[in-house]
Order: sequence, then structure tokens, then C-alpha cells
Amino acid sequence: MKSDPNKLLRYTPFERANHWLVAITFILLALSGLVFFHPAFYPLNQLFGGGVWTRILHPFLGLVMALSFGVMFFSYRKLNLMTPTDRAWLSHVREMVDGDDRNMPEAGKFNGGQKLLFWLLVACMVLLILSGIVIWRAYFAFLFPAAVIRFASVVHAVAATVINALIIFHIYAAIWTRESIDAMLYGQVRRAWAKQHHPAWFREMTGGGK
Ligand code: HEM
Repeated sequence: MKSDPNKLLRYTPFERANHWLVAITFILLALSGLVFFHPAFYPLNQLFGGGVWTRILHPFLGLVMALSFGVMFFSYRKLNLMTPTDRAWLSHVREMVDGDDRNMPEAGKFNGGQKLLFWLLVACMVLLILSGIVIWRAYFAFLFPAAVIRFASVVHAVAATVINALIIFHIYAAIWTRESIDAMLYGQVRRAWAKQHHPAWFREMTGGGK
């Protein structure tokens, strides 16, 4: 593909494919998880071939998401280390939401909000994976006492509720920050977008904004 001089590469094709694999498995996990969560959501089992298939597929989908999120974790962990600038960014975020971004400290590739979200997602993922293994009846649950399985079920439900709220927020923020969807769909963003939303990253990518 010919590179457009007005655009900057934000995500490689591999990063994008992996992100969408995480996103698709996440949605399938949320839908199949709701089936076990409350009888009102039980009809959703039809999407997965019935109750038994939903039970079988949910943990395997979880494995796919855990592995692809693991790839994301190792790719982005260094970029998401919090700096004093990110903390200052977070303390000004209200002004930005109210439409005034003049006092926003300069964000790098990811801003303070994206970094905070990243670490909250990591925490939820770790809890979901560990508790998910304990409650995976077919292969692991028999290794644990009943009280541990009960506790792990609660941890799993709470972490799932929190991560659903985080992802709803993530999608809202991706739509609210116009054109950021382009980054994940096409890999490239306009230089003006980068300069406005991630000025420190823009300078890094352009050698000082020339
Ligand atoms: C349909 C659902 C989703 C949509 C529409 C979506 C959209 C996006 C977009 C547009 C970006 C680029 C933001 C930027 O470059 O500034 C992004 C980045 C990212 N997404 Fe998603 N995403 C979805 C689901 C998920 C899920 C399920 C996870 C993890 C559990 C996730 C984790 C991330 C991470 C870690 C990044 C990089 C930094 C960040 O923006 O936080 N996304 N997503």
C-alpha cells in the first residue's frame, strides 16, 4: 500500500488483527457469559447452539481471548507505564470533557486515561483467567475444594461485570474521540489528529513535527 504523506502509522496490520480478535472473542464471551449470569439472558444460548454448547464453548473462547490479550499485554506494557505527565493529564481530564483542552499536558502514544484503562483491563483479565480455570468443571474444578470454587465463581462474576463496564467506556471513548476508530480500522491516522490528541507521540514520529 502506498503511504500517504498526511498520515502516520499507529497500528500495524498484526496489531489490528489481534485487537479485533480480542474484541470479537470478548463480545462472544460477554454474550455466552450472560447465559449463566441470569435466567433472563438464557435465550442467548441459542446463539451458541444451546445450553450445553454454551457451557463447552465459553471457556475455550476465554482461552483465545486470554492468549490474544497476552499478545496485547506484551506489545503495549512499556508504552503504558504511567508518568507524572499522565497523572497530570488525568487530573485535567474533566476540563477536556467539558470542551477545553488548552491545559492538557502533552500525551504520548497513549494518554493517561488509556493507560489507566489498560492496567484495569490487565487486572480484570488476570482475575478472569485464574478464577475461570478454578471453575472450569470439565478439566480443573475437581482439583479444588467446593469453597474455593464458590469463591472463584464470585470473583469471575465481579471481574466480568467490571470489564464489561470498562469496555463499554472504551467503545464510548473510541467513538467520542473522532477518527480514533480509523486508527484501529486502517492503521493510519491523520497527522493533524495525532498533533491534537497525542502531541508528544506526533513529535516523536515526525522528528519534531517538521
Ligand atoms: C467492539 C469493541 C471495541 C472497539 C470498537 C474498540 C476500539 C478501539 C480503538 C478505536 C482503539 C484505538 C485508540 C487509539 O489508538 O487511540 C483501541 C485501542 C485499544 N483497545 Fe479496543 N476496542 C474494542 C474492544 C476492545 C477490547 C475487548 C479490549 C481488551 C479487552 C480492547 C483493548 C484495547 C487496547 C489495550 C487498546 C490500545 C490503547 C487504548 O486505546 O486503550 N479493545 N480500541
